[in-house]
Amino acid sequence: MALVLSPPKTVLLAVHVATAADVDSLIWLAAHHSSILRPELLLRILLTYLPETLRSSAYVPFLHQVNAGEYEPPSDVIIDHTAVDSLTDDQAARKVKKLGLVTLSWPEAPEDVAEDPLSLFLIRRAYKVDEGARLLSQLPELVIPFLDHSPSIRTWTISILLPFVRRSIEFYNESLPITLEEFSRLEDDDAVDLLLAQSASTPEAYENIGRDLKGIVGPWLYNEKRWPARGRDGKKPSEDSPLEHHNLCPGFERVLEWLTAQALSSWKVAVGGIEQWDGPGDVDLGGYGNMWLDDAEQEYLEHRYARAALASAYLIPEPSADALKGAYSILAKITDMMDYDPITNLQMAASMLAPCPELCQSEILSPKNTTYMRNDLLGESNVLTTPSKLTLDMLHATILSAFILSRAGVPCSIRMAGELALLDNEHEQKEVFLKFMRAVSNRGPKTDDSYWAKARNEILWLRDWGAEEALGDQASTAKGGVFRLLKKESIEIEFLKALLSNSPEYSLARSLYEDGLDLPLPVNIVQDIVIASAMNAYDNASNPNRTRGGVKKCDDILYAFPKSIDASLPETKRIDALLRATHELSEYRLVLKQGEPFTPVVLRVHSDPISIVGKVLEQNPTSYTNIQDMLEIGFNMVKASLTVRDKHGHPALSPEDEPVQLSIAEKRITALCIDAALAEHDFETAYSYVVSRLSQIAEAVHSPSKPGSGPKKMVDEWSWKAALNAGKHKRTSKSTRPTHLGTASGNLEIRHLEQRIECLSTALRIAPPSTLQEILNTFRRCEEELETAIKAEEAEEDAWDTAGDLKSPRKAIPGEFVPGPKVQRGPVSAARAAEDAPLSLFDLARAVAPSAQKNLGGLASFQRFGQARGGGKVGTESDASSGGIGGALGGGFGGFLGGGLGGGSSDAGSAQGEEGDDGRPKARKRDQLRDAAMGTLVSGVGWLVGAPPLDRSHERE
Ligand SMILES: *[C@@H]1O[C@H](CO)[C@@H](O)[C@H](O)[C@H]1NC(C)=O
Ligand SMILES: *[C@@H]1O[C@H](CO)[C@@H](O)[C@H](O)[C@H]1NC(C)=O
Ligand SMILES: *[C@@H]1O[C@H](CO)[C@@H](O)[C@H](O)[C@H]1NC(C)=O
Ligand SMILES: *[C@@H]1O[C@H](CO)[C@@H](O)[C@H](O)[C@H]1NC(C)=O
Repeated sequence: MALVLSPPKTVLLAVHVATAADVDSLIWLAAHHSSILRPELLLRILLTYLPETLRSSAYVPFLHQVNAGEYEPPSDVIIDHTAVDSLTDDQAARKVKKLGLVTLSWPEAPEDVAEDPLSLFLIRRAYKVDEGARLLSQLPELVIPFLDHSPSIRTWTISILLPFVRRSIEFYNESLPITLEEFSRLEDDDAVDLLLAQSASTPEAYENIGRDLKGIVGPWLYNEKRWPARGRDGKKPSEDSPLEHHNLCPGFERVLEWLTAQALSSWKVAVGGIEQWDGPGDVDLGGYGNMWLDDAEQEYLEHRYARAALASAYLIPEPSADALKGAYSILAKITDMMDYDPITNLQMAASMLAPCPELCQSEILSPKNTTYMRNDLLGESNVLTTPSKLTLDMLHATILSAFILSRAGVPCSIRMAGELALLDNEHEQKEVFLKFMRAVSNRGPKTDDSYWAKARNEILWLRDWGAEEALGDQASTAKGGVFRLLKKESIEIEFLKALLSNSPEYSLARSLYEDGLDLPLPVNIVQDIVIASAMNAYDNASNPNRTRGGVKKCDDILYAFPKSIDASLPETKRIDALLRATHELSEYRLVLKQGEPFTPVVLRVHSDPISIVGKVLEQNPTSYTNIQDMLEIGFNMVKASLTVRDKHGHPALSPEDEPVQLSIAEKRITALCIDAALAEHDFETAYSYVVSRLSQIAEAVHSPSKPGSGPKKMVDEWSWKAALNAGKHKRTSKSTRPTHLGTASGNLEIRHLEQRIECLSTALRIAPPSTLQEILNTFRRCEEELETAIKAEEAEEDAWDTAGDLKSPRKAIPGEFVPGPKVQRGPVSAARAAEDAPLSLFDLARAVAPSAQKNLGGLASFQRFGQARGGGKVGTESDASSGGIGGALGGGFGGFLGGGLGGGSSDAGSAQGEEGDDGRPKARKRDQLRDAAMGTLVSGVGWLVGAPPLDRSHERE
């Protein structure tokens, strides 16, 4: 039943029910008053008065009916028209004029829907709901039913509403500081910034960045407004040169700028974005539409995207493995997008180290082009970010270099690696190389040859990016490579050094530098390095034991390269001797500086290494008994050239020096052992060293030197002092007792004095003239003591003799010395010839004089000595008999010598007859003394007349 209402009252009633959100009544009114409530008026009433809080679903059906012009009012509607009943028509008409219904169009409304009230309504209603109630969630329900109504609704829904809703409530929980309508009016740059503001805000963001690019930015681009070049001249990029259309899509450019900026500030976002986003065609429009790009646009935008991706890779500042892997995955992505052969992962690439021949020859590797790693990264003129096989190779080599360096512990960003490889900065390359070598050495699993083989491959690849491997000789001037300015030989040298100091097996070093077909280093350099490394290991050692630590390592290195290091090289022998000396010392306790245990390097640099033997003797009781070991240590020190150095401290022992040095070592160490024995009250050992060893030295002094090889200047200041010290040694209660007496005197005191005299005799033979007086004085006091002691004992024995006749021939004593044929050949046979001479030492000396005279050849120095001391003249064999020596010696002893030399030749024979008259015990003691004193004295005289130790060769000239 139609209600009769005037048109103004109908309008007022429609406004009334719309304000009350009574959609059913509105439908009823529209159905019954369609000539008044026309669609546009209805939409204006809804837009102005329908509450913004009303759910979209409550009135979308009505909108469909308005659009169709066919209403289906519910049957049970009862219209309450009391609101307008009391009004007159005039009053109603006046009220209608004041309703202030908003118009549907607005200044920025899409042009193509100017005549489409529903489209205008939907958009304006959406803005009002957003602005008045912030009920964004209701808006999709409002507009999606009308997507097909007009292209503008679809465009608006996809490019304005969808990004805004996703950005505000669907993907993030953030009501934006602007309204939907304000958003629709934003400039491109501001819109992109707003849309992506959250995408990099959280640590997890990089997992969602692809979603945001596809689902927020992608829809936003679905709008002709974003493509000004299309609209302006109606041309597509393909019709010109596509690359001139820089402004094809400013919003997209802004996205690329944003991405590259992320590479610098939070690279994970950039990497995540590029990994997850395939570029301009890869969009999520929510199923509401399809992206429309023609081939040229698609190609151009992908090119721009690839450039931005390359730029992002160069910009990643972090040298971590993750960051570099991220850069590598960017590279993989672009490679894939550009349909090149796929690349592997970074780890694999770093182990394959494929050469890149095209890159190695390319002009792109020019120092000037490094500027493109820092500047204008997105510019079309940037040759490094222009996507091509070459630039991808370049980025590949750069990332790989940075990765290998950083992985080893030398942090290097991609850009640093690129600049290192392209710029002409040798100093920088060297610095990085040395750091890399140190890092490789410090990290290495030292025993693993494969680690070192790999490290070497890396170094060589880093040097020239595989140019030599790929191009052979043409690569002589490598243009890229982080060590390209360093000589290959220097690199090999450093590597060999590192290998030697780290890898204890040396098999790799051998196979590379000794056994290979194409040896990377000349053999003399290998020798130098091996020896230097051996010495480094030695100097670093803390334990002198040759089977342990650094000394063992030195030993191992030295013998690990049989083809390069000949065991007969002087250098090898020298080091071997050093190792022997060192090891021998390891058997003893040894502290040189207080509290600091001895280390091998101390030996190597010691200014007086022989003195170390003295320390060993001091610090190791009874070690003097190992005199042979001590001498061995000294000889090895000499052979190691520790005793002869040049002014730089380098070993400088010449073959001619060696015998002299060995002899000095022998004398010093023998003397040290004698002194050590005396210090430990072991006179017996000291004595035995004096008679057995110093006597030999004396003999060596006597023996004539070969013509032309006169002995070098050498003053033996040790032997005579040691002999003298022994000769002065008095027995005490602490003295070690002899272990066996043999045929020596049973009287310990006599035996001791006899032995002392023997020591003094030895001293006499080898001491320099200026000291003879002192020794002689000691000698005489000792002789007197001996005579006193013998007399005392004889008195005792005479008492025994009265008890029975004990006389018997001397030769009946078992074990006694049996004289040989009396041929006078030299001092020793002379002594034997005189063995039956009277007891007096003076007589004994006389007896040996004839043999002494035979040795008068070198008396020149003795003559000088005689002139100095007594004015006598003893220069030739004939002069000797004139008694000049007596003057030389002075004192009582001088008389004995004078007599001996003057008329001794006949006495030697006549003395023999006196033997046999003495009783047996007495004879035994005399014989013993004779043996003891005479043997030494005879040769002592021999020295006096025949072999002065002072510079005889000089005197001869
Ligand atoms: C937004 O917040 C609500 C409630 O706090 C939560 O349930 C929802 O998962 C959040 N959504 C997003 C996208 O963070
Ligand atoms: C930089 O690289 C480009 C591209 O390979 C090359 O043509 C150019 O010569 C290089 N620039 C310089 C200054 O060498
Ligand atoms: C030096 O010695 C130390 C400790 O003895 C050792 O760890 C180090 O590897 C050695 N260095 C060289 C170069 O031999
Ligand atoms: C040297 O080292 C080896 C092996 O460790 C050990 O058997 C030997 O006793 C050591 N020698 C000395 C003198 O310490």
